[in-house]
Amino acid sequence: MESIIAEGLTKRFNTIIAVDHISFRIREGEVFGLLGPNGAGKTTTIRMLSCLIKPSEGFALVGGYDIIKESNKVREIVGVLTENPSLYERLTAYENLWFFAEAYGISDTNERDGRIRELLEFFDLWGRRGDKVGTFSRGMKQKLAIARALVHRPPIIFLDEPTAGLDPESAKEIRDLIGRLSKHEKCTILLCTHRLEDAEKLCSKVMIINKGKNIAIGSLEELARLVGKPTLQIGLLSINEKITDSLKALKEVKDVFIDPQLSRLILNLDDESSTPKIVKEVVHAGGMILSVNMVYPSLEEVYLKLIREGTA
Ligand SMILES: Nc1ncnc2c1ncn2[C@@H]1O[C@H](COP(=O)(O)OP(=O)(O)OP(=O)(O)O)[C@@H](O)[C@H]1O
Ligand SMILES: [Mg+2]
Repeated sequence: MESIIAEGLTKRFNTIIAVDHISFRIREGEVFGLLGPNGAGKTTTIRMLSCLIKPSEGFALVGGYDIIKESNKVREIVGVLTENPSLYERLTAYENLWFFAEAYGISDTNERDGRIRELLEFFDLWGRRGDKVGTFSRGMKQKLAIARALVHRPPIIFLDEPTAGLDPESAKEIRDLIGRLSKHEKCTILLCTHRLEDAEKLCSKVMIINKGKNIAIGSLEELARLVGKPTLQIGLLSINEKITDSLKALKEVKDVFIDPQLSRLILNLDDESSTPKIVKEVVHAGGMILSVNMVYPSLEEVYLKLIREGTA
């Protein structure tokens, strides 16, 4: 089932078209990545889907509710981490969540306390619950801001740059937490990020936008195929001419490169289905195979190529 359906979603600010007729579908439980350079329209898309601003054109259903006609319902079922989340610096971590849980209508104080404890433990902040947020590091504040977005158990979560401005270690911690979160809370996540590594590790599907327009959408593998074919990489105990010559003689093999440092053959093929035949040939030529991998272009290569082509 689909959690989010957007059709022709568009936002104009006077003469600027921030988001230009984008359409996509996000399945329930999916972690969907929205990627694009600065000013691409990512935050504007999240703001429309979470009913903070109205689209100029197009429509979207979030959790089955219309973002224009049923905005109150949408607000109840989404959790949003905005670009600049504001927390009360003079309140403690616990008090911050207490305040927002109350604002979200969790009136039973036992339930409120239980949910806050669950979240603070999940984000490894329980030990610091009594400290004022003003004394927190950036990473701790970011974790608390995500916890705040989750306090009312929303089934759909929008995270706008959750790892922006964090050092690699804190960014990894947050990334791992988001991965666990989608399972732990059984929620659908729309993630905007400039950290392609985050998208690569977390997202089952990504959409790349630029200047408000959809450039590409699909799984990581589908996007990789848009920019190039995968290479077949075979790790061997040792490489000799007999092996390379026999591979070069195969019509299925276009090019053979040798990576001597890793004792690895890198092959360009027309068709991946010839892999078993190639492996057999290597064995036949006396090669001792240690590993066989199909290697796709990285998301970074895909992203840069598509953005450059899209703006050409
Ligand atoms: N309230 C607004 N008024 C006028 N223009 C706006 C407004 N909000 C966004 N824009 C414009 O819309 C475009 C898209 O902005 P948006 O913030 O959605 O980009 P983004 O993809 O989130 O970028 P970043 O990666 O820098 O966060 C930009 O040109 C921006 O200047
Ligand atoms: Mg943004």
